[in-house]
Amino acid sequence: MLSTDLNDLITLTGPGTPGGNMFRRFWIPACLSKEVAEREGPPVRVRLLGEKLVAFRGRDGRVALIGEHCPHRGASLYFGRNEDGGLRCLYHGWLVNGEGRVTDAPAEPDPSVICRDARAVAYPTHEVAGIVFAYMGPPEKKPLFPAYRFTTAPENHMYVTKSLQECNYLQGLEGECDSAHLSFLHRALRGPLANRTIFTSRKPQYSYERTDFGIRLIATRETDDDRLYVRISSFVLPYGCWVPARNRELHMHVPADDTHSWRFDLGVLDHPVSETPSIDDRGQFLDEDFRKIPNMSNDYLQDREVQKHDNFSGMKGFLAQDSAVTESMGPRFDRSQEYLGQSDAGIVAVRNLMVKTIRDLEKGIEPPQVVTKAEDNIFTHVDTCQVTIEKGEDWRKHLPHVAAPKAVPGAPLPPFPDPEGSLRRETGTHVR
Ligand code: FES
Ligand SMILES: [Fe+2]
Repeated sequence: MLSTDLNDLITLTGPGTPGGNMFRRFWIPACLSKEVAEREGPPVRVRLLGEKLVAFRGRDGRVALIGEHCPHRGASLYFGRNEDGGLRCLYHGWLVNGEGRVTDAPAEPDPSVICRDARAVAYPTHEVAGIVFAYMGPPEKKPLFPAYRFTTAPENHMYVTKSLQECNYLQGLEGECDSAHLSFLHRALRGPLANRTIFTSRKPQYSYERTDFGIRLIATRETDDDRLYVRISSFVLPYGCWVPARNRELHMHVPADDTHSWRFDLGVLDHPVSETPSIDDRGQFLDEDFRKIPNMSNDYLQDREVQKHDNFSGMKGFLAQDSAVTESMGPRFDRSQEYLGQSDAGIVAVRNLMVKTIRDLEKGIEPPQVVTKAEDNIFTHVDTCQVTIEKGEDWRKHLPHVAAPKAVPGAPLPPFPDPEGSLRRETGTHVR
């Protein structure tokens, strides 16, 4: 369990909240590049960290992200015209550029004062891997963009989808850091997949390590032939988790507001996407507004006959299965009402790190995961894999570029923040 105060601390991310301040130290996904594909094309609404914004691609090809409401009298710039280096408001024709400056106020006899003083909120963007990232924090704290694998991977090795989650971001994110659920929620009951260890071995052993990017989560399961099936996931503070789906996917759960979130799934393959037909079928489960077609209002299209014979959930696709459990917890789950077990150890570690990072920032200690120096911007060791090894073997042998030196040597794990919680003992290990 988590006290109501701590639950609020890590789930509320609006402007001025401690959790929101922490998120605003990082680059976060705002929208897909394809939503604003066209230069001087239509803007799109972006709801992010409780703020109402619009994104648009200017004549120069760059994506701008500014406050939705016109600095004049608040009309929505979403309806505006993308022209002359900015968005022109429909109401009285003010022109707001990508830096949030008003560059034209045509109804004014002398627009110069307005052009000097009037401002819209504007955030810097960075476009990579088909995603437009934004930095929404203090300008003087703007970090470098982290050098994750997707920043250098060829575009044709990647695929990306985005979906609306009708719940707080942490519910989806905790699902990514919870290997135990794979053996249940996603289990196939028949067909070639049903005999996979992930579905037949249901009591994983967990360990985890604090690293410079967040937490490395290690789940091992015994196979039928007495070997070990190992899954390595990487929680990247504050919203992402690399999981071993296909070669690897980064699942990012970003707060839209406190009761809605965006799930961005970015796949990075070792080969071109075109070599694997139907690599990503998530798109067929989404409408044009990125809402799921199987959703709460239709019980995620659960089929009880399918549930009897084919799979554990009776639902089609990981996205519907994940959403059914995380959204059904409610818009923002009250974690003072939960009862944790040992299989939740990874989640506890993630929460502890979030609490520590937010509290440290309140004391003026910047998150160490934020990259400010080029020489620190090396993240080749952030990775994920699944591998079957002999008992007694070290999984690192199969992931040699996971470099221990980039982990925090012997970093003490912070204590579980709620001593009255149902899980009092952490089971993490330290990298040495
Ligand atoms: S409200 Fe936008 S120009 Fe007047
Ligand atoms: Fe899942």
